Amino acid sequence: MNASHLVLGIESSCDDTSVAVLEDGRTLRAHLVAAQDLHKLYGGIVPELAARAHLELLPRMVAAALEEAGVAADRLTAIAVTHAPGLVGSLVVGVASAKAYGLALGIPVIGVNHIEGHLLATTLEHGETPWPAVSLIVSGGHTELVEMRGVGDYRWLGSTRDDAAGEAYDKVAKLLGLGFPGGPVIDRLAASGDATAFDFPRPMLDQPGLDFSFSGLKTAVALAVASHGTPPYPERLVADVAASFQRAVVDTLTAKSLRAIEQTGARALLLGGGVACNGELRRRLAEACTRAGVTLRIPSPRFCADNAAMIALVGALRLDRGAAPDPELDAIASLEATGLSAS
Ligand code: KG4
Ligand code: ZN
Repeated sequence: MNASHLVLGIESSCDDTSVAVLEDGRTLRAHLVAAQDLHKLYGGIVPELAARAHLELLPRMVAAALEEAGVAADRLTAIAVTHAPGLVGSLVVGVASAKAYGLALGIPVIGVNHIEGHLLATTLEHGETPWPAVSLIVSGGHTELVEMRGVGDYRWLGSTRDDAAGEAYDKVAKLLGLGFPGGPVIDRLAASGDATAFDFPRPMLDQPGLDFSFSGLKTAVALAVASHGTPPYPERLVADVAASFQRAVVDTLTAKSLRAIEQTGARALLLGGGVACNGELRRRLAEACTRAGVTLRIPSPRFCADNAAMIALVGALRLDRGAAPDPELDAIASLEATGLSAS
């Protein structure tokens, strides 16, 4: 890693606004994440509100991050910004801000793929990855299994055919009357429930291949609670549904991750995305990886969820490899359109 990088990272692809200052690709001089709690009022993310909130938050957060880092803006050497994939209005705010800072400071702006940020986020705390590795990215927008043979050398193994894992958590929480986001509350309630109370499907587990599908599971939960009317439901029922649903999700994610490791001969399993904060998933993958003799790397919750540190890191790695700034840098909504995934 070139020791002279001082990269400002900007992440605004969904509902979290985040800014980081990363020195020499290793030392995080400042890292701010602002979760936009206003979406809780609407039971989900409202794209226009998310974009407006980024617009309000970003200039203040950039100023605060530079102050926390003790870095004058004119000492920055580059800006790394998430330009894909995500909510397009949110991405546009980040990309336009990054271009403006880049122009004002006369430094390059590097567009970073958000998913590559999640793929490499473990590096921030754990250092160099034992290659080859398999990465499981599970968030509100993505469920991706990726073979990684080095930085920039990725092969897509599987994705979700419908809902993402986090989306399933959010929809099931809504069905149970638990509010948004659903992951943390289901994770907590599942601990006191009986995971064998309901026999929910393990989607696509009996089929070859590494794709996922979670919408049938959500429908199974809807059918299970249908005879109980509308929320609020009895505490016991909610805890048992939460535990049984979570067991089905974790069984599926664990089995497919192990299958991916077997198929690729990976030496490490890397985890990323908000669902990687899930206690049961972390425990089960830890047991499975110990048994398989594979290194498991899970970032701290702050680096699992959307964050600008991982974006600054990818920017620094790209600069090291001689990446040239793209004057046409644009916001791109879909992962497929970026050419990074296989589908
Ligand atoms: O990566 P992230 O912060 O944002 C994106 O979606 O990009 O992930 C948010 C998702 C939400 O669907 C949320 O319900 C889920 O991660 N989540 C969890 C947990 N914490 C957050 N899912 C399961 N267990 C958790 N502890
Ligand atoms: Zn994400």
